[in-house]
Amino acid sequence: MSIISQNIKVSLSICIIALGMGAAHAAGDIEKGEKVFKKCKACHKIGEGAKNAIGPVLTGVVGRKAATFPDYSYGKSMRKVRETGLVWSEENLDGWLTNPKKFLRKILDTRKAKAKMKFKLKKQADRDNVIAYLKTFSVEMKKGAMKKDDMKTEATPAMAKPAMAVAATHICVENQSGKTLLFVVEAKGGERVVKTLNAAENLCTPQKMADAGGTVGVFLNEDALEGCSRLAKAGQAERLVAYEPFDNCTWAQ
Ligand code: HEC
Repeated sequence: MSIISQNIKVSLSICIIALGMGAAHAAGDIEKGEKVFKKCKACHKIGEGAKNAIGPVLTGVVGRKAATFPDYSYGKSMRKVRETGLVWSEENLDGWLTNPKKFLRKILDTRKAKAKMKFKLKKQADRDNVIAYLKTFSVEMKKGAMKKDDMKTEATPAMAKPAMAVAATHICVENQSGKTLLFVVEAKGGERVVKTLNAAENLCTPQKMADAGGTVGVFLNEDALEGCSRLAKAGQAERLVAYEPFDNCTWAQ
């Protein structure tokens, strides 16, 4: 157990340093992203009541599983990507927007993969900004999904259920990734709780441990040296939507 906790401690510190330095890409500018999105509008609709067009509806696409918008006829390679369970994390969107065909070839590990989307966004700043803009539509998606019955089966994990109620002295983490993973919650004071959580389980610090906040972390298993971590406030639950190592996890807002 001591080796395990040391591993976790080490990787948590690495992750926290990474958090401090900012993510791999600068946070995008929503207003600039709205302008960039004009290029996408030729094929994609977004927002309340949006309908599929040449491309699928993009409302709530950040955190959504690839190729799962109802009634859109995705290409063959995209349907294969859906089988892998790939989630549109910011990192994956960045890869897709850089070069959709190349992205599919990398994910599916075949030179035969083809994307129905021929459009590319070459500038990193444009990609960062448009992703920031896309993120602003995830809340609307949740509202829409409550109304629409057909969305239930295709619901992204992000809207699986509302955040749990958390006492003001707790830090909690909820596993909504659909996978069994190792979670760590650590109060600023240093007390740490480590537990493997099945899908839809959660973990909290014991009462009165965490008024000052702390961190939550997630790893594939006890031997994993890399995972994700996130600063956590007392009194609210951090919700993991999708797991991907090297701090590429998707968390609900
Ligand atoms: C010329 C048309 C066209 C343009 C312009 C375009 N797309 Fe697409 N997009 C498509 C098509 C077609 C697909 C479906 C791909 C497939 O099934 O292979 C798609 C798929 C996607 C997906 C995957 C959605 C899902 O449900 O899995 C995302 C994300 C996406 N596009 C984002 C964008 C963004 C952001 C822009 C603007 C920067 C953009 N697209 C511009 C046609 C376009």
